[in-house]
Amino acid sequence: MSIGNPSLALLRNKIAIITGAAGGIGSAVARLFGREGAKLLIADIDAVAAEQLTRDIERNQSQAFSIAVDVTRKSSVHDMVGRALSLWGRIDILINVAGGALRRPVLEVDESEWDAIVNLNLKSVFLCSQAVLPAMFQQRGGKIVSISSIYGFTGSETRASYAAAKAGVAVFTKSLALEVAKAGIQVNAVAPGLAATERVRSQYTDKQWQDRVATFPMGRAAEPDEVARAVLFLAQEENSYITGQTIHVNGGCLMW
Ligand SMILES: NC(=O)c1ccc[n+]([C@@H]2O[C@H](COP(=O)([O-])OP(=O)(O)OC[C@H]3O[C@@H](n4cnc5c(N)ncnc54)[C@H](O)[C@@H]3O)[C@@H](O)[C@H]2O)c1
Repeated sequence: MSIGNPSLALLRNKIAIITGAAGGIGSAVARLFGREGAKLLIADIDAVAAEQLTRDIERNQSQAFSIAVDVTRKSSVHDMVGRALSLWGRIDILINVAGGALRRPVLEVDESEWDAIVNLNLKSVFLCSQAVLPAMFQQRGGKIVSISSIYGFTGSETRASYAAAKAGVAVFTKSLALEVAKAGIQVNAVAPGLAATERVRSQYTDKQWQDRVATFPMGRAAEPDEVARAVLFLAQEENSYITGQTIHVNGGCLMW
């Protein structure tokens, strides 16, 4: 591992935008990328949390800036990308982490709720990817990694809008990968099973959590950092030939 030895850092001087960076998985990605030498734009709708994380990362000698973004709004996404370009003049990596679920039976989901979940999880990936592509085409390279979900592959009894959107992320990933492959741009996804972020953990009592993680072959949930390491694997230069793929980080509960 290169951590602690700057000359071996896997993302040395790479410019990375991370959306949803203030959340559980996003902040794990941001911290790991910072340790690996990337220059970061920490983008989240929660401006206060994004700024706190940025200060934390800077304390560890990494270069980071925060920006408030709503990834469901094209103008906001364009401001985010414009900020990265005005700071550094290039964008090497985009990590689409922002997302969230609605847990409700289909019969009870109204149209605006459906739109909100699909916009947050799927349209956001389209908008952010589209916005960074001109810079990546000009550079003749770049890496885009988006967070899908196991539910995008198994379906979910109570989260149809979320599962459909996350399936969309995986297929959008393949489609965009095909479209930009000759330009040297690689597009991949990571599909976590259950990651022990604050948001997810708070939805369970201790007993419910123990029962839930016991259903996993590895007998536990992922730490956010374990998801972040899969993202790093796809975002680093050493990944020179993987594109259009979704890596499943789920402790063995779904295999392909
Ligand atoms: N934790 C899990 O078990 C799990 C499993 C599968 C997939 N995922 C996916 O991983 C990603 C991160 O999940 P998490 O558990 O870290 O969640 P989280 O709630 O901790 O983080 C999500 C972040 O996205 C931000 N965000 C929400 N709406 C936004 C918007 N419109 N614009 C910009 N930012 C916005 C939030 O402020 C938050 O910081 C999500 O896409 C989620 O669907 C998580």
